[in-house]
Amino acid sequence: MLTEPRNLHWPISTLELTTPDLTLRLPSDSELDALAQVAAEGVLPDGVVNFPQPWASGPPPERARNVVQNHWWARGDWDRDNWRLLLAVFHGNQVIGQQNLSARDFATTGESRTGFWLGQRFQGRGYGTQMRAAALALAFDGLSAARVTSTAFAHNSASRAVSRKFGYRPNGVRRIAVGGRAIDAHEEVIEKADWPSHSKLAPVEIAGLSACLTCFR
Ligand SMILES: CC(C)(COP(=O)(O)OP(=O)(O)OC[C@H]1O[C@@H](n2cnc3c(N)ncnc32)[C@H](O)[C@@H]1OP(=O)(O)O)[C@@H](O)C(=O)NCCC(=O)NCCS
Repeated sequence: MLTEPRNLHWPISTLELTTPDLTLRLPSDSELDALAQVAAEGVLPDGVVNFPQPWASGPPPERARNVVQNHWWARGDWDRDNWRLLLAVFHGNQVIGQQNLSARDFATTGESRTGFWLGQRFQGRGYGTQMRAAALALAFDGLSAARVTSTAFAHNSASRAVSRKFGYRPNGVRRIAVGGRAIDAHEEVIEKADWPSHSKLAPVEIAGLSACLTCFR
């Protein structure tokens, strides 16, 4: 349940997704600061790189600033034809991570992509599965997406396990350079027809979408 007044002139701030354990919504300024602190405390083990832009691999103050700036950039750059929804994830009142859903030319392609991260101490408790369920419910049930993709590095067993649970299929491998290393990035895809049979993994409630639907398509 929203506790703070939302910004009437930024309709996406009314959007709220609820799973059995989590709430996902745009963070207020102070909540964004708390999210940055979660990143500062650690998202990845030392030496591990799971993102094409290694925003989570630098020193703690840099990681925190990357989170804050990324949210400001995504809001400032928002366009119906090219949007990035960065939702803070709450367990009770505690912010624990971030779920992304983004798209380019969504009204035409119906294609969207997801990304997600949790503070290290919140990983491995099933929250990632609920976060992905929330993003997929928003994409398929809320926004009528045709397909949703996810890209994970070959070594990222947790992220790829989440995709497997939702029945994603392989959609190609790109070899990219990250920090001077060659890494295989596996894209996986779930189509609308495959969603109903996998939506039971975690029930999701969507609130506040009608007020912001035109921001997405
Ligand atoms: C990826 C991430 C969001 C997944 O969230 P999570 O809460 O840890 O995942 P869950 O607890 O929901 O686990 C999902 C599945 O992955 C499996 N899994 C988790 N960690 C695993 C590992 N290291 N190796 C193999 N399987 C793993 C779990 O067993 C679970 O499957 P199950 O329910 O069938 O047992 C989280 O681990 C994370 O933030 N990692 C660091 C950032 C990152 O890599 N982001 C994604 C970039 S593509």
